[in-house]
Amino acid sequence: VTAGRSGSGPDLTVRLGGVELRHPVVNASGTYEADSLASGGLDAFPFSAYFPKTVTLEARAGNPPPRITETPSGVINAIGLENPGVEAFLTELDGLAGLPSPIVVSVGGGAAADYRSAVERLERHLGEESDAHVPVCGYELNVSCPNVASGVAIGADPEALAALVDDLRSVTDRLLVVKLTPNVTDVVAPARAAERAGADAVSLVNTFRAMVLDRETLRPFLGNRTGGLCGPAIKPIALRMVAEVAAAVGIPVIGLGGIASGQDALEFIACGATLVGVGAAVLADPEAPQRIVAEIADGLRRRGLDELDEIRGVALK
Ligand SMILES: Cc1cc2nc3c(=O)[nH]c(=O)nc-3n(C[C@H](O)[C@H](O)[C@H](O)COP(=O)(O)O)c2cc1C
Repeated sequence: VTAGRSGSGPDLTVRLGGVELRHPVVNASGTYEADSLASGGLDAFPFSAYFPKTVTLEARAGNPPPRITETPSGVINAIGLENPGVEAFLTELDGLAGLPSPIVVSVGGGAAADYRSAVERLERHLGEESDAHVPVCGYELNVSCPNVASGVAIGADPEALAALVDDLRSVTDRLLVVKLTPNVTDVVAPARAAERAGADAVSLVNTFRAMVLDRETLRPFLGNRTGGLCGPAIKPIALRMVAEVAAAVGIPVIGLGGIASGQDALEFIACGATLVGVGAAVLADPEAPQRIVAEIADGLRRRGLDELDEIRGVALK
């Protein structure tokens, strides 16, 4: 077994477009707040890139409570994209200037024009207005939130999605990541459409539309009636979808859905993912990200491997 090229362990660096990241583990949008770090400040930031909670052009109040609950093997939520809107978000963003990891700003919306206006506003801020030098390397287009009336429309329609990506390509030179919805019959068609229109990467999966009943009243538990399921329950479905997409596109794939260990992460990478996102697992265990990075290195070491390229896509052959 080799000690790896640096002598201190396997090489975990990965590339997202032109951006080099120190390891493949990022957070899933909406499940981790960089400003809520308990100790150690921003230096202790465990993720190699940061995806803030989805921001929309205008503020949104989100759905009526209850908005989140546990199921036997996962979490179901219907937050409904509660956020302060892009204008207020700019202040939060400036506060992240010291973050040691690049930021991918998650943008959501109803109509395509809302995405464009939000990204234009962010570009203007980052380009001229702010001298905070926030390390924003790109945008993640959340076209897949299942908990807002129009949330899933664009992501489920390859032509509308391609038009959106094409339009945003003319607004920014930063990376465009498209977050795909699993609530479709064929996840490959939107992935291909995103790539064709100029996306730099795709991420999948967002949550699966699902329902939980109040055990006593037998009525829907969540205020929104339905919500999105994530966590261990969805991992095998997410793996299958990541494998299908990775086999069909040439751009990097960010795989997520139920990742709670280095083993889970390695399985997504074996299915073709370049990066892996951790969501619900961090809600239960704030130390999960550091542990998962260490377990990925251990998993490579145990197999006598030096780098992630040696396992990427092995499940596709
Ligand atoms: C409480 C909660 C809030 C979320 N908010 C967002 C969001 O704002 N934007 C987004 O793209 N995904 C959001 N998601 C989905 C996650 O980013 C991720 O795609 C999903 O939870 C699957 O990963 P997991 O099984 O590791 O949690 C949210 C998930 C949860 C549980």
